[in-house]
Amino acid sequence: MPMRRALIAGNWKMFKTGAEAVDYVRDFLPRVAHAADREIMIAPAFTALEKTAEALAGSSVALGAQNLFWEAEGAFTGEVSPKMLAAAGCRYVIIGHSERRQHFGETNESVNRRVRAALQAGLKVVLCVGETERERSAGETFSVLDKQVRKGLKSFVASELDELVIAYEPVWAIGTGKTATREQAEEAHAFIRTLIANLFSAGMAAGLRILYGGSVKPENIAELMAMPDIDGALVGGASLNPEAFARIVLY
Ligand code: PGA
Repeated sequence: MPMRRALIAGNWKMFKTGAEAVDYVRDFLPRVAHAADREIMIAPAFTALEKTAEALAGSSVALGAQNLFWEAEGAFTGEVSPKMLAAAGCRYVIIGHSERRQHFGETNESVNRRVRAALQAGLKVVLCVGETERERSAGETFSVLDKQVRKGLKSFVASELDELVIAYEPVWAIGTGKTATREQAEEAHAFIRTLIANLFSAGMAAGLRILYGGSVKPENIAELMAMPDIDGALVGGASLNPEAFARIVLY
């Protein structure tokens, strides 16, 4: 099996000011100083990015953003471009999170444009996919994942996707305390990996990191990470506390 370096990513959502982010980083970094075999990323709100980047300087923890707009610049009130994120110190950007799809009208088509713009600007992408509770009950989980991956990555070729990470986040598990069982997560991850092999190449599929997200906690990370196709986690609520997030990183 190819070696895929685990990635543990914290999505802070709409929490923490710049000052709060700096306090967090001061507490968090010493706790994870010896976690060299895994990659860590944190994604604060836009307003906290530069302060967080300064606080992270000299550490191996990567900075990510939670969204972007695809144009480089222009009359797009309220939006932030890939170039601005890179200049603020971001190495990663999360794209297509279910909260963006649910509350802000994000579609597979707009996700596709964002992925392209991010990769062109040299950012690594965490592309989020996942079914709702209704879709799962209706037996549509795999068809939803198929559509989200296929459309989200439309018109790409494998060589353009070296910096892609996919996060499988069942919507019913996000912020609900209801984690997918490790079997449910593994089944979805394996499905996504096979789909990537069919759409792109076996080599790309073998190297692709697929993260699980949805109520990941210090108590359940180890059993999830033990599954063959789970290569890391995208953590919301539990990443807001440096002690809890460090325990997840050091699972
Ligand atoms: P949660 O969020 O860990 O709070 O469930 C995960 C996410 O939305 O990325």
